[in-house]
Amino acid sequence: MLSSTGSLKLLAAIVAIFNTASGIPLASIGPRAAECSRDVLAAAADAYVAAQSAGSLDLLQKVVADKWEYEENNVRIDAKKSVLRKKLKIDHRRTIYDLVQCATYTELVITDSANPYVIGTQIRHGADGRVTLFDSVASTTGSWLFDAKKTLEYVSKETWDPIPESKWDTREHIQAAGDAYMSMWDNATAASAVPWGTPCTRVEGGAFASSCTSGIPSNNNQAPNTRRRYVIDQAMGSVNILCVWEHMMNAADSHEFRLENGKVRYIHTMTECGGRTCRL
Ligand SMILES: *[C@@H]1O[C@H](CO)[C@@H](O)[C@H](O)[C@H]1NC(C)=O
Repeated sequence: MLSSTGSLKLLAAIVAIFNTASGIPLASIGPRAAECSRDVLAAAADAYVAAQSAGSLDLLQKVVADKWEYEENNVRIDAKKSVLRKKLKIDHRRTIYDLVQCATYTELVITDSANPYVIGTQIRHGADGRVTLFDSVASTTGSWLFDAKKTLEYVSKETWDPIPESKWDTREHIQAAGDAYMSMWDNATAASAVPWGTPCTRVEGGAFASSCTSGIPSNNNQAPNTRRRYVIDQAMGSVNILCVWEHMMNAADSHEFRLENGKVRYIHTMTECGGRTCRL
């Protein structure tokens, strides 16, 4: 049996591990672990999709915390003035689940020519499982290479089956692959750190590339992609990264990567330039 000093030391060590590893206050670990179930995440993502389909925030009430925030294209705004208030007919939807961070990422494609959108939304949950933040890139006409119909056509041909658990890549590997790609603009060795797959295809706005290395930066002295926010799903082999695309008009950017067997298989991008037409 441990002496009381011994158990105090042990407790201190545990506190230190939790504080440094997760940055989550100790008091919230219990409830967070208990509440962050796939069902809780799925209910919120479904409510979000229902709200967007109806153009109504009312449908979020059952999943949001008392205090919640909404960010669109890297700016915190009033959700009542957001794209969520537009009733949109959704043609494609896929959600990935991060049970460690208690977050999801949902990709939406809306081809309606009166109101075309390709939207990427990270949803973050608090310790009690309720939503504290919707963080959305809403690309539309004027966004980089935007073409919702083509996006739908390309993403519909892809296969994003769940990966058997025995073949899961680690969270660290999945994140590092995405981070290396995002660092190619300001880091000359980053491209060689990306685990390129064969094949690897990219849907960049509405433009298809049959190789993920096509068009990658040759100038590695550009402004970086900063303020990266991550959602990582091992079962989908996927990481979504929202960031500031500093080298193109400080745009709001979303990159989603899917890895298979350790290698990048698919990349989807959305880049929105603050309501202006994106230009290099
Ligand atoms: C550049 O990228 C490489 C490969 O990902 C990484 O090891 C290195 O730390 C990066 N350099 C900087 C300055 O971030």
